[in-house]
Parts: sequence; C-alpha cells; structure tokens
Amino acid sequence: MTAKMASKRILLGLTGGIAAYKSAQLARLLVKSGYDVRVAMTESACRFITPVTLQALSGQTAWTDLWDARIPDNMGHIELSRDRELIVVAPASANFMAKVVHGLADDLLTTLCLARDCPLMVAPAMNRQMWDNPATQRNAAQLRKDGVLFAGPDSGDQACGETGMGRMLEPEEIFEEIEAFFQPKVLAGRRVLVTAGPTVEPIDPVRGITNSSSGKMGYAIARAARQAGAQVTLVSGPTALATPAGVARIDVQSAQQMFDAVKKAVPAADIFIAVAAVADYRVASQAKQKIKKGDRKAGMTLELVENPDILGYVAKLPKPPFCVGFAAETEKLAAHAMEKRAKKGIPLLAANLAQHALGADDNEITLFDAKGEHLLGRGSKIDQARKLVAHVAAMLPRGKR
Ligand code: CTP
Repeated sequence: MTAKMASKRILLGLTGGIAAYKSAQLARLLVKSGYDVRVAMTESACRFITPVTLQALSGQTAWTDLWDARIPDNMGHIELSRDRELIVVAPASANFMAKVVHGLADDLLTTLCLARDCPLMVAPAMNRQMWDNPATQRNAAQLRKDGVLFAGPDSGDQACGETGMGRMLEPEEIFEEIEAFFQPKVLAGRRVLVTAGPTVEPIDPVRGITNSSSGKMGYAIARAARQAGAQVTLVSGPTALATPAGVARIDVQSAQQMFDAVKKAVPAADIFIAVAAVADYRVASQAKQKIKKGDRKAGMTLELVENPDILGYVAKLPKPPFCVGFAAETEKLAAHAMEKRAKKGIPLLAANLAQHALGADDNEITLFDAKGEHLLGRGSKIDQARKLVAHVAAMLPRGKR
C-alpha cells in the first residue's frame, strides 16, 4: 500500500435497498486498496445489512444515528464528512435521491450530504419502474445539474424478478468509478488506441502459433488511460481478461487482423500505445482443413512469412499519433531498448524483462525517451500503467488535441 493510496478518504453511505449486500464487497475492495472508509447507514439500510458487517469490513464504526453521543460535540452531521474527499452512496434509493435534490436532511446520511464540502457520487439501485418514474428521472437530472456524479445504474435482472434499468452496478464497477475519480485527468480530451495480448497465427482451423502474453499490462494501460480522462479503444488478441470499464474493445486473433483494426482506428487517435506481443511471423499458407497426422509421413515443416510491423507502420504515418512501444527483453535491457526506440523512430519506449513480467500482476518498467531512461520501480501493473500515462501526458505537445 502506498502512502498516496492511504490518503484517499471516503464516506460510504448505504440507503435501503436489497443491493446493500453488494456494498459489503465494495467496502472490502476499497479497504484492500488502501482507502480510508468511513460508513454511514440509514435506518432502512440497517434492515438489509447490519452495521456490524460494515464495521468489521471497514475497520471503523459504522455510523447510523444523527444523535450518536460518541460523535464529538454532537456535530456528527458536519464532523463525519469534513475530512472526506468523496462521499459515495451505494445503494442510493429513489427516496434518498429525492431528498438530496430538495436539500432534506432528516437523518445522518442526508445531513452529511447537505453539509459536505466534497463531491458526492451515487450508485442508484431500485426497481425499474421506480427508476423510470418521471419524478426519479427529474431528480436524477437535477442531481447531475448540481454536480452529483453517477455510477450506473445498469439494466438487467432485478431482485424483484423484473428486468430493466435500475440495477446497481457491481461492486467492482463502482470501485472502478471511485478509482477513476481519484486519478488526475491528465489525458482529458485525448483519444488513446492500445494494442494488447498475444496474437494467434493459424496453422489450420484448430491450431495456431501464439505466445504467453496475458494481456494484463495492455489492459492496465487502457484502464489507466481511461481513468486519466481519455477516450480509449483497445485492440486485443485473445485473453481471459474483462474489458476495463468505459473502454471500447475490438477483439482480433491474428497479427493481420490486429493490423487491419489498428489501421481503421488510428486516424481517430492522438496516442498509440503498442503493448501487444505481435507474432513476427505467420504461416505462409493456412490449411483449410485440419491437418491429419497420417498426411505427413516424415515430419512436418511450416513455412513462415513476416507479419506487418503495426507500430512501425503507425510511427511512419505522415501525421502519426504520439507513439509508445513496448519491449520485453531477456537481457541487456537498456541497450536493446534504446536501439529499438531508435529503429522504430518513436518518442517513447517502455521496456521490461520478460522473466519479470509475463503473466504476473506486477512489473518493473523502465521508460526510454530522448532524455534517457526513467525507472518506474517495481509495482502493480495498474500502478506502472498510471506512471506511464503520466509520463506520456507530460511529453505531449500542449494544446494538441
Ligand atoms: N509490434 C507491432 N507489430 C509487430 C511486432 C511488434 O506493433 N508485428 C510492436 C509491439 O507491440 C511492441 C514493439 O512493437 O510495442 C516491439 O518491437 P519489436 O522490435 O517488434 O519487438 P520484438 O518483436 O520483441 O523484437 P526482437 O525480436 O528484435 O526483440
């Protein structure tokens, strides 16, 4: 846990709704990531989940009563949110939203919201008809006008058995919105294109040549860029990873398909970050039918031809986006990286030792630019991705949008 992370101070508010059980998981995710989580619950929230659960998960008292004698000077309505950087209300009921719109403060949580001097984020959760009701729609529009941030809602199956809009986002999705809130918006207004994962070069309909790239680093970069305010497109080879929230993903298999997708998307990109482990070669002629063992008596030889160099192509465009390349080396990191950066003609290259990074959740990247090398230190891939994004943002020509 970094000192910076520990300083993220949140007030997590719960109102009455069946989705309150998901807020236990949200509290857990936040605490695990170093957030200081103070909890306030309405009386109705306590009917769905007990303060004891939230207290155990947050490691702090879960406050429920405006008149709690333990609150210093009985100023709970001010004190409990005064040092917070964000109030997140999840689940936010229709009733709670209506109260906030009108400045009502008849319990601890609504009073804290009225007396706050930090932003408020709500994760609505209600039956689809309650959400669609013109009163709720008016209230949601007014809250947006007042600067309240929205995480969701989503549409789908509801606890009442109906299907529609009003479902609370999953805890991981709300967590992602909170994480994004805390990131400096250094890429606001920029459009970022990222390639990630391995490619698969088919031999026949059921076999292919691939590599062991997990895609984790590229996905972390797409996520960090989006959290930094960019509009992000991710061209991905086959991976087992979930699409980062708010990122447009295009799935491909082969290097040629990745090249075609990049060619199509690159005119709308200000920044191109090539993280994919693209196969340098593909099979010259792909068998139409599955190759049978018996077809080849004396072994088998595959003829390979070179794949297009996607990053090389983009970097040589007449008006290229800001290009970032990746290099996974097994030795002589600095020498290979500097040579690769010069050969590709790109402003920035991120390099790591393959044995430290492949499939792992953390990494140790070194950046190489015209000024030399910059060590990012060892850290989680999302941490490294955020540092890379900050470095890219600092290198961009100002005002170029
Ligand atoms: N790259 C690409 N298209 C390819 C090959 C690589 O866009 N056909 C990109 C990768 O996404 C990465 C960088 O280029 O950003 C890697 O550069 P490259 O010189 O191709 O690396 P290696 O293939 O690792 O080179 P070498 O085998 O010489 O180490």
